[in-house]
Amino acid sequence: MSLVITDIGELFTGDEIRTGAAVAIDGDRIVWVGDTAGAPTADQRIDAGGAAVLPGFVDSHAHLMFAGDRAAEFGARMAGAAYTGGGIRTTVAATRSASDDDLRDNARRLIGEALRQGTTTIEIKSGYGLNVADEARSLRIAATLTPETTFLGAHVVPAEYRDRPDDYVSLVCGPMLDAVAPYAKWVDVFCERGAFDADQTRAIITAGQARGLGARLHGNQLGPGPGVRLAVELGAASVDHCTHLDDADVDALASSETVATLLPGAEFSTRSPYPDGRRLLDAGITVALATDCNPGSSYTSSMPFCIALAVREMHLTPTEAVAAATAGAAAALRRPDLGRITPGARADLIVLDAPSHLHLAYRPGVPLVRTVVHNGVLQ
Ligand code: NIG
Ligand code: FE
Repeated sequence: MSLVITDIGELFTGDEIRTGAAVAIDGDRIVWVGDTAGAPTADQRIDAGGAAVLPGFVDSHAHLMFAGDRAAEFGARMAGAAYTGGGIRTTVAATRSASDDDLRDNARRLIGEALRQGTTTIEIKSGYGLNVADEARSLRIAATLTPETTFLGAHVVPAEYRDRPDDYVSLVCGPMLDAVAPYAKWVDVFCERGAFDADQTRAIITAGQARGLGARLHGNQLGPGPGVRLAVELGAASVDHCTHLDDADVDALASSETVATLLPGAEFSTRSPYPDGRRLLDAGITVALATDCNPGSSYTSSMPFCIALAVREMHLTPTEAVAAATAGAAAALRRPDLGRITPGARADLIVLDAPSHLHLAYRPGVPLVRTVVHNGVLQ
């Protein structure tokens, strides 16, 4: 099956911004990019009518394996309560008592919501099971929904291990990793005061790496800490949140391959100060943007919302924010086939109801994604 999109007013390829462009797709790949006048014939043709075309968004950080919601906790926060991460245990209880179908249907609902807003790739973390059986089933279900699955058994220490956290770390490093490894591509740890410290994080990440999983970390979200430097030391693909960084953290990232993933939905929803994205870009660090979609700290599936926040609150330009939500997030997943509109790349792209990518931040909250092509198929 071939498809050609013509009369693209502004084509955001990830490498350049072209006008009067066209894109040809064969099967699940982009095969040609050029001027509309030279577009090849194809089985199907979409006339963009002067609209902007962008790569599909890559949401490289989402916690979709859960049940229930925490709207009351959000309400309390907006009335002045602080976010501590302690609510994670509420979602753990709901998730453990949910059926497999409930977990799958809830994740599918959120993936559909995201797709309609232009997300064509989504990473899915476990982390609300926190025992061997519930972490394994979370990842078994997640692996049917995305190739980008992440084991987050080290999200918090569950209540039943409260007095013996090191026993929980041993469980995560041994039987839990053995059970989830067939379904997980990545291993992640919430490295934060109140969650896991540097030694525990190192032990869990290296145990995952020994089973062939790639590393990613939650670091420096709620306060300064060792997460960012540890991510660099361990060769993590990405360190996520990066809200509280000192100069040494920025220097470490700048001299590494580790991507800094910013999650502005979390600062929005926890009413916290935003990280300084400008400082990271100016230091030459690759920045990604993702939703952190989860029922506690950031219950949004909207990459356009995160782009608008990154521009307004983190001082990215609109062009930088779209790049972070596409090629940057693809780098955070080590997926060079995603996030760009170039021959050979996966045919994931979106047509906006707008003439330019600037409108994503300029018109916040407006549903601007008109058409989504995913794996070469019009959705
Ligand atoms: O990325 N920081 C840890 N995990 C999630 C929050 C999870 C929750 O509150 O349920 C996050 O923000
Ligand atoms: Fe997260």
